[in-house]
Amino acid sequence: MQRLKDKVAIITGAAGGIGSVTAARFIEEGATVVLTDIDLDHVQSVADKLGPNACAMVLDIGDEQAFKKVIDDTVGRFGKLDILCNNAALTSPETLHSDTDITGIPTDLWTKVLHVNLTGYMFGCRHAIPHMAANGGGTIVNMASGGGQLADASRVAYGVSKAGVISLTQYVATLHAHQKIRCNAIAPGPVITPTFRKVAPELISIIGRHALTPELGEPEDIAALMAFLASSESKYINGQVVTIDGGMSAHHSHVMDLQDHMKKV
Ligand SMILES: NC(=O)c1ccc[n+]([C@@H]2O[C@H](COP(=O)([O-])OP(=O)(O)OC[C@H]3O[C@@H](n4cnc5c(N)ncnc54)[C@H](O)[C@@H]3O)[C@@H](O)[C@H]2O)c1
Repeated sequence: MQRLKDKVAIITGAAGGIGSVTAARFIEEGATVVLTDIDLDHVQSVADKLGPNACAMVLDIGDEQAFKKVIDDTVGRFGKLDILCNNAALTSPETLHSDTDITGIPTDLWTKVLHVNLTGYMFGCRHAIPHMAANGGGTIVNMASGGGQLADASRVAYGVSKAGVISLTQYVATLHAHQKIRCNAIAPGPVITPTFRKVAPELISIIGRHALTPELGEPEDIAALMAFLASSESKYINGQVVTIDGGMSAHHSHVMDLQDHMKKV
């Protein structure tokens, strides 16, 4: 499929599990992709493997001027910006392990998580929108999370930041539809990336028990949804959050326990 033929896209967090696979999918679909990440060496090596339609730029999404420069440089080099995928987030084991609950999380970590995971997405939207509007429109896809829709066992700042991403998405869609800019969010359940395996390998079976699919999702599943939302095939979808979680949120939380109980009686 070439649904993104001649489109120019920026993906943040493109050195990571979901971002790198999404970049590969966009290129497969005909796009030119600027892969950005705070980890330049890693994102450069990902881009090098993707061929001539990929290039890498270093970007800390929490740095507004740096984000503006990456967007301006992309438009300067490729003539336009059609797609922005706000995908980066603080996912390191150190951050996630200290992001506990309201009584336990250090205030500076709370502030940092909200700044990068939410304000950073706003920076991207703020500086992409004028270019998209000037070129007749564009598409923004924001990475939320199931943790932004329902409370989890920890990671309060992460969850609140992702809930904010959902609201940001609705506002951008509502306030910029007249400029032919669409904005949607993706809310994945657990996605088995290298980071996920490193941070929480034991969670794969604990959480996987609640999915209605034989396996938990992989980055390719998210990349496919990203490509659909970035393309004009989804032109009637705007301001929505699309959940992709193997059906985990389709049923009551007690269902698996109840099914186990019913097998016994
Ligand atoms: N993997 C999952 O289970 C899962 C589930 C729901 C949502 N998500 C979301 O998907 C997105 C991608 O996650 P992933 O699983 O690929 O994680 P990952 O750790 O593999 O990738 C995250 C990337 O973001 C980069 N990054 C971190 N801070 C940054 C900053 N300030 N500026 C720019 N880049 C920065 C990292 O260097 C890394 O390459 C994140 O927004 C995450 O919250 C992931």
